[in-house]
Amino acid sequence: MHDCASPIGVFDSGYGGLTILQKIRQHEPDCDYVYLGDNARTPYGSRSFEIVYQFTLQAVRRLFEEGCPIVILACNTASAKALRTIQQCDLPGIDPTRRVLGVIRPTVEAIGSVTRNHHVGVLATQGTIASNSYPLEIAKLYPHIRVSSQACPMWVPLVENHEHQSLGASYFVKKYIDELLQQDPDIDTVVLGCTHYPLLYGEIRRFMPSHIQIIAQGDYVAHSLSDYLHRHQDMHERISRQGSCRFLTTEQADRFRSSANLFLSDSTINVETITLQ
Ligand code: DGL
Repeated sequence: MHDCASPIGVFDSGYGGLTILQKIRQHEPDCDYVYLGDNARTPYGSRSFEIVYQFTLQAVRRLFEEGCPIVILACNTASAKALRTIQQCDLPGIDPTRRVLGVIRPTVEAIGSVTRNHHVGVLATQGTIASNSYPLEIAKLYPHIRVSSQACPMWVPLVENHEHQSLGASYFVKKYIDELLQQDPDIDTVVLGCTHYPLLYGEIRRFMPSHIQIIAQGDYVAHSLSDYLHRHQDMHERISRQGSCRFLTTEQADRFRSSANLFLSDSTINVETITLQ
């Protein structure tokens, strides 16, 4: 381990990335982590490319200030709208030895081994769907797969407002699943292309025909990060390892702590309020 070894950074617009963090910590429990939720400015899903890029870059810079040698954008919207520009245009000038990784590629890689009939559906935020990132990435790896995409603009607000187990949630979960299946009734695999959606999993499973496989991305992202660290020993040694996790939020710390309980089992978390600019 380096003398100045540092935590892995994990970023999301809000709480959704905690579903990814949890899986990453299960795969790599010894590593230290800093999670940053831009809770004051969530949701990103309906925001423009330029704004999502600016906000995401601010978050990445902030996590770099924490020393993070690697930052995971645990947010599909940020991965879709900001990742490539940050990797290609910003990182070389900031610090070419650091890495920023997203959640879309590892998820797409998994699709090929799940679908049997090559009819795949993607459920995601408006921003991720408008970016066309999933169909483009899927076409690169599996050109024979037919992809249907459905934006679910109400799902993130339902989770962020703790309404994801209400009757209102059932209505909106069913609505978007029906709209997706109307586009292609032969779909046999559906990707949850938003890190908030695992919180709605019970409702989604209830309204999704039972023969359809649902891909939640946490395990795939976690596996891909472990694989990356295994293949890049230099990066592996730059990560500090005491099994700790700190939380940064742009909202009030108390508010973050009580909402994070939905996603995490530990209620005694170390939370600090920060400003992004
Ligand atoms: N959790 C984010 C994602 O995976 C989106 C939430 C938002 O709209 O801010 O896309």
